[in-house]
Amino acid sequence: MSQPLLHATHLSHAFDYPLYDGIDLTLYAGESTAVQGRSGSGKSTLLHTLAGFLPPLAGKVDILGRDLYAMGETEREMFRRRELGIVFQTHYLFKGMTGRQNIEAATQLAGTELDPWLLERLEIDGVIDQKASELSGGQQQRVSVARVLAKQPRVIFADEPTGNLDKETAALVMDVLQEYVRKHDGTLFVVTHDAIIARRCEQHWVLADRHLEPA
Ligand SMILES: Nc1ncnc2c1ncn2[C@@H]1O[C@H](COP(=O)(O)OP(=O)(O)OP(=O)(O)O)[C@@H](O)[C@H]1O
Ligand SMILES: [Mg+2]
Repeated sequence: MSQPLLHATHLSHAFDYPLYDGIDLTLYAGESTAVQGRSGSGKSTLLHTLAGFLPPLAGKVDILGRDLYAMGETEREMFRRRELGIVFQTHYLFKGMTGRQNIEAATQLAGTELDPWLLERLEIDGVIDQKASELSGGQQQRVSVARVLAKQPRVIFADEPTGNLDKETAALVMDVLQEYVRKHDGTLFVVTHDAIIARRCEQHWVLADRHLEPA
């Protein structure tokens, strides 16, 4: 039985209208978990809560044995930087720096070394010394995935990480994310509109009618 890395209990959230209620979720080491659902159903909100950006209206999130929202804001921010990796659909690279410099900025802060395996697997080893602004959108996205994984976080959150990629590149990025969590005994939580991506995950849920339902 794999080790649970994240355990969420009875999460609820609402903005102008109720989004979800009483969500329980456990993420296990070596596995990935996908959430699909209609636009506006609350997937990104749930991800933000699991990743420590947004306190839930009710409920609790334990990650790596720590109660995320019992921490003070600064402590949570430090914890997030050290232990969590967050991949967004749009990438936030320093445009004037090369891909490699962008990654090194992250590894220096984290005190880790870039594993060349990552660049090869993401097929960006040939362009990594070009300025980020000269890279294609899909190449920039892969550099930002490499930058997140190079910090070697245990828990990875990804909000539509393949939304701007062609099918083949999307599959490649997903391969790398899943290989990474297996290799590092980490876990991946991914929000996606892509059923092919979602079906590849050990857990596959749909957020609908305010609940997570098995897909
Ligand atoms: N900070 C906020 N303040 C007010 N309302 C918000 C906030 N963040 C999200 N919402 C609302 O909550 C609802 C759910 O948003 P969310 O981004 O979680 O949806 P989603 O399932 O990720 O949708 P999509 O598939 O379009 O990305 C939306 O109606 C949105 O307007
Ligand atoms: Mg969203």
